[in-house]
Amino acid sequence: MDNGEVGIVNIFPPQETVSIFDTTLRDGEQSPGATLYKHEKLEIARQLARLGVDIIEAGFPAASPGDLDAVAEIARTVGTPDGPVIAGLARANRGDIAKAWEAVRHAAKPRIHTFIATSDIHMEHKLRMTREEVIRCVREMVAFARSFCDNVEFSPEDAGRSDPRFLYEVLAAALESGATTLNIPDTVGYTTPWEFGELIRLIIENTPGLKDKVANGEVIISVHTHDDLGLATANALAGVRNGARQVECTINGIGERAGNCSLEEVVMALYVRQPFFGLRTNIVTTEIHRTSDMVSRYTGIPVPPNKAIVGANAFAHEAGIHQDGMLKHKRTYEIMDASLVGVPESRLVLGKHSGRHAFRVRLEQLGYHLSPEQLDEAFRRFKALADKKKYVADADIEALVGEQLYQPVETWHLEQVQVICGNKNIPTATVVLRRHDGEVLSATGTGTGPVDAAYTAIRQIVQVPNRLIEYTVQSVTEGIDAVGDVTVRIEGEAGDERLNPQTGSTHRIYSGRGVDTDIIVASAKAYVQALNRLIAAKEERRAFVAIS
Ligand code: KIV
Ligand code: ZN
Repeated sequence: MDNGEVGIVNIFPPQETVSIFDTTLRDGEQSPGATLYKHEKLEIARQLARLGVDIIEAGFPAASPGDLDAVAEIARTVGTPDGPVIAGLARANRGDIAKAWEAVRHAAKPRIHTFIATSDIHMEHKLRMTREEVIRCVREMVAFARSFCDNVEFSPEDAGRSDPRFLYEVLAAALESGATTLNIPDTVGYTTPWEFGELIRLIIENTPGLKDKVANGEVIISVHTHDDLGLATANALAGVRNGARQVECTINGIGERAGNCSLEEVVMALYVRQPFFGLRTNIVTTEIHRTSDMVSRYTGIPVPPNKAIVGANAFAHEAGIHQDGMLKHKRTYEIMDASLVGVPESRLVLGKHSGRHAFRVRLEQLGYHLSPEQLDEAFRRFKALADKKKYVADADIEALVGEQLYQPVETWHLEQVQVICGNKNIPTATVVLRRHDGEVLSATGTGTGPVDAAYTAIRQIVQVPNRLIEYTVQSVTEGIDAVGDVTVRIEGEAGDERLNPQTGSTHRIYSGRGVDTDIIVASAKAYVQALNRLIAAKEERRAFVAIS
């Protein structure tokens, strides 16, 4: 067994590579509330390219003209000859496949990813198709996709619960029709690593014509796992041990229900346990932390503090016994350096006397390279925070800069919020908002508490129907002057739904995030941000309806 010693980033001996297929922008975006709009998707795609992913599944173009447009833009700008493959998802029908092609054809390396369910329960209740009909559909649709594109991925949805003998037939049909990647999804996260690893082995062994094509690299076997039983990463790794050479995953493991296999976990498992797996990836591991932060801020899905690799506590050693061991020898309780995944090791704290130069250097060490204008704004925010808080930690700086950089289009900007509350008062808030055209509006509201009162006042100004469905507050650092980080989720009204390609259902949930030393201010910022997302989504949809 290896002893957990790890070296410098990405200097593997030449070995077989596992391709990393990132589906944050497709399966990840299927998490309720993770709705992203175009410029956010583009920025995430650019960051995924910097991270070194091999394939970006940029979206589901048939969902709406807006989704098609976003995938096309990613294909054009990120899918350069030396960039990643850009994939678009399509159900196994001509309309979806044609739309996927319309979007991804702009990439230097396009891929169409088409899927149909193969488990008895899905075929009977969702598709209402017989096994024969499914096989016929696979033949026709994979061939149809190949008529556009040399690079076609096929997925038998719910493979984890499908009859393996039927799977071999379906996969053989896809292979004969020209599929170049066969992706095996455990759609509902039902299997265990033993079963899933064995399934991959049996598929390679028993699908007619597959073994040779896998051996000579003509066809890649891929794994796509979900985390309903907390086994997504373990299952993906079991698949890799049994011959899969593509892993489908998302940043922070976001995705449908309990989420997908998390990119950072699978990549770091392959990295840290390299002597065990004998495989490499193309991931630039030092970009992991920043990518995680960007995805969390844009999707409004916070990273749990105990999340492996990217959680705030992933490299914190609090228990006295651990600290003692760590001081004697780092590797006693740490199997990898935080710097390996892009978390700066030095915990330098800044204060109100720190100058612009020290601030800029710290930002660069944290991986933020800002334009002069962005730096001015960030420094202004830093000074304002340092006036309220004795020591400004890295986490505070990241929260501030994240809030500044990852803002949706601002229809409304919070100018002021003031509350009166206490055990003898009716909580009352006065809020002042500035609209993008410069008009400043104010309102006063009451509520069950100061946050509720502020939200009532905001609703009176913005006048967009919505329902608050979730409110959470976290402290960024410790202490009485800690920065509060608030996330809210709101539901919009009918008419701005997003289609889920698998279940056929729709959702219209938007999230917002705000940080401030004052929890009420952070809460108001978060709500205004969520409303800005809702308004932008409505307008994007309206613009496309007007064009088409
Ligand atoms: O989980 C799943 O089955 C999917 C497919 C569309 C690949 O996301
Ligand atoms: Zn999935």
